[in-house]
Amino acid sequence: MGGVTTPGDERIPVFADVDTGVDDALALMYLLGCPEVRLVGIASTAGNVPVHQVCRNNLDLLHMCGVTDVPVSKGAERPLRAQLRTAEDTHGPQGLGYATLPPGAGELTDHDAAEAWVRAARAHPGELIAIATGPLTNLALALRAEPELPRLVKRLVIMGGAFDYRGNTTPVAEWNVSVDPEAWWEVLAFWRGAWGGSEPDHLPMVLGLNLTEHIEMTPTILSRLAAAAGCESTPLCESDERGTRSTAANPLIRVIEDAMRFYCEFHFDQGEGYLAHLHDPLAAAVALDPELVRFRAAAVDVELTGTLTRGMTIADWSGRWGREPNALIGVEVDPATFFDRFIERVGPLAKRLA
Ligand code: BDR
Ligand code: CA
Repeated sequence: MGGVTTPGDERIPVFADVDTGVDDALALMYLLGCPEVRLVGIASTAGNVPVHQVCRNNLDLLHMCGVTDVPVSKGAERPLRAQLRTAEDTHGPQGLGYATLPPGAGELTDHDAAEAWVRAARAHPGELIAIATGPLTNLALALRAEPELPRLVKRLVIMGGAFDYRGNTTPVAEWNVSVDPEAWWEVLAFWRGAWGGSEPDHLPMVLGLNLTEHIEMTPTILSRLAAAAGCESTPLCESDERGTRSTAANPLIRVIEDAMRFYCEFHFDQGEGYLAHLHDPLAAAVALDPELVRFRAAAVDVELTGTLTRGMTIADWSGRWGREPNALIGVEVDPATFFDRFIERVGPLAKRLA
């Protein structure tokens, strides 16, 4: 099983908490395309689609990529206090745009996603690299069960929030925070609590929309990816009939193109152009190489009560609250470097599946 330490295995243990989701799927592909990574577990969180569908997407994606040893765990059905909202308008009816995955035979673990977090952290103390690209419901539940978790995890990279930047769910709130703001609040509080104040090396790294919206996947970059997989394909075009399916022979490139087409159409309808923001794959890349992004430490909090501002994330850059920093906020990234790395990893992964 992927969750158990194998003596002599030098690869980096990585745990991913996802609400798959088009861009979560691409984040998982990024990790699966990294030879230096050992994905030791996937927590499925309700968010973009309901949790049973997130589980299905994770299991089927692993199956499609020929991966049989990564445990997938089911998370809570709903946020800590809020009603669950899902985003089929953004990610498609099953969460993967127009793509459909052949059903895999893999089964879920007999423990839940919060327990999976705890087990992974205890199995790899001080080594585990964790990424969370959905609502933080299961991570909050894991922290309630194991308050030492922040000391067991080497690095936590979170995609969520929007810092000095508009939201994508309400005018001020980003999706992952908006779905479960209380979970966000708890995770920040627990992390700071476990370290007892400012520990710059151990602060969660937070990538908000202000950063991730620089990561624009375009039809040209998708064509580069197909070429890296040794696969011919017809470039996506905004004048194509909606829902046109990929002609790629490669099964993974086909899934990516069918998923991305839906995502690009959504972004186009939002007035953002025929492109798509790869929020979550950036988190995967940064988890393995934080140098990809410039960070600034700040005290961060999330609005829980505002009638218009619930889910808004606020960074106190100038120390007006008088609090120690509790997060590192991503403020600058070079998208070209990210996309080079994405293609270098996901291209060969797809090629192996041809
Ligand atoms: C985040 O919201 C989700 O829809 C995406 O998967 C990403 O994690 C961006 O706001
Ligand atoms: Ca996500």
